[in-house]
Amino acid sequence: LEDYGLSAANGFLPAEFPVTELSDIYYKPWETVVARLPSLLLSKKIRAVVDRLPILKVKESLLDNVGELRRAYSVLCFITNAYVWGYDEPSDTLPDCIAEPLLVISEKLGLPPLATYSSLILWNFKPILDDPELVDNLMDLENLTTINTFTGGIDESWFYLVSVFFEKTGAQCIHAGLNAIQAVRDGNDKVIINELEKVAQGIDNLGSLLMRMEEMCDPHVFFFRIRPYLAGWRNMTDAGLPNGIRYGSTGSYQQYAGGSNAQSSLIQALDILLGVEHFAMGKKASSEKTISAQAGKNSFINEMRKYMPKDHRDFLDHLGKVSNVRDYVLSHKSNEKLVLSYDACLAMLKSFRDKHIQIVSRYVILQASKKPVVSKAKTLRSGLSKAQGKKEQKGTGGTSLIPFLKQCRDETGSAAASEW
Ligand code: ALA
Repeated sequence: LEDYGLSAANGFLPAEFPVTELSDIYYKPWETVVARLPSLLLSKKIRAVVDRLPILKVKESLLDNVGELRRAYSVLCFITNAYVWGYDEPSDTLPDCIAEPLLVISEKLGLPPLATYSSLILWNFKPILDDPELVDNLMDLENLTTINTFTGGIDESWFYLVSVFFEKTGAQCIHAGLNAIQAVRDGNDKVIINELEKVAQGIDNLGSLLMRMEEMCDPHVFFFRIRPYLAGWRNMTDAGLPNGIRYGSTGSYQQYAGGSNAQSSLIQALDILLGVEHFAMGKKASSEKTISAQAGKNSFINEMRKYMPKDHRDFLDHLGKVSNVRDYVLSHKSNEKLVLSYDACLAMLKSFRDKHIQIVSRYVILQASKKPVVSKAKTLRSGLSKAQGKKEQKGTGGTSLIPFLKQCRDETGSAAASEW
């Protein structure tokens, strides 16, 4: 796991807490801006302030330290999305002082140069209390907070923290899933069943966790105040960015999809472990009973791999090559317990996707159908919220939100071994 930047305890989250502030004082101007992001956005000063920042070099010492490099990426991505979406009209040009270092840093990490699941979630959390004398478990959801947000509000922090804890909780599924792969190689049905039961339990926990979103993240606040900053610049003609943005005064236009949970390596890892395939939108799985351990043929899902850190992407590729559980179960269907344990995983994953659809309906679809209660000047009008009243809502990643999620759910259900 360590070879691919994962850990047994934390899964795709770093094994150690992320760096909260760049240690080199040279980068103080970036840290100053990101720490004041909510106020700079509220006062509509963000662009004026960023425009005056010096162009800082990406030092070797930064490139050589992955913790610091990730922090730099997270800081610059927050500033980037705030700069682009912080006013009624988006900016189609990112100034050199942000664009230049961001391009170098994102390239080094193998990530795109805008706010992603990595910058917002994976590398953006810290413990509230860091003294083990005072708390039993530093990584408890109740002991986590975010390092940065756009809005400075609890709703936004909670929105990210649920995903942080989601990744942490999912670590047990990866662990058990890898054990199951090994047990398939050993032909040990008892162990496979045992490990698959753990995977099913773990996925069930993930579903329960997702439903905790409502505890502290208000759907209205999410949709009107937070979500606009999560948008990207691909297919954003409605929002005023038909060509994407230019990275730097002499850069060319580039288009990138916005932040999305489809960028979570954990969700893709579960699909790969269980051999669930996702097809192009509107396409059904072929009736041919071929089994594939590929991640699937859905281009959006495959593309989102490019929005994951390179080592996590490599992990998923490797997992796709060695995933053997579904194959094995389908060729040992006489073992009822085995089929049951595998199908329980799929049932939990399907139920998880049902819950996701419920959350999205409440946080996006329902909100989009409401008339905005705030004045135009105060409403952030990215293409996402401008699409209010439109029949089909797009996700921040750019999918047709509900049809996409429903298809993913149905593809999960139809993979059940008892159906084949
Ligand atoms: N992908 C989520 C949305 O569309 C964040 O709102």
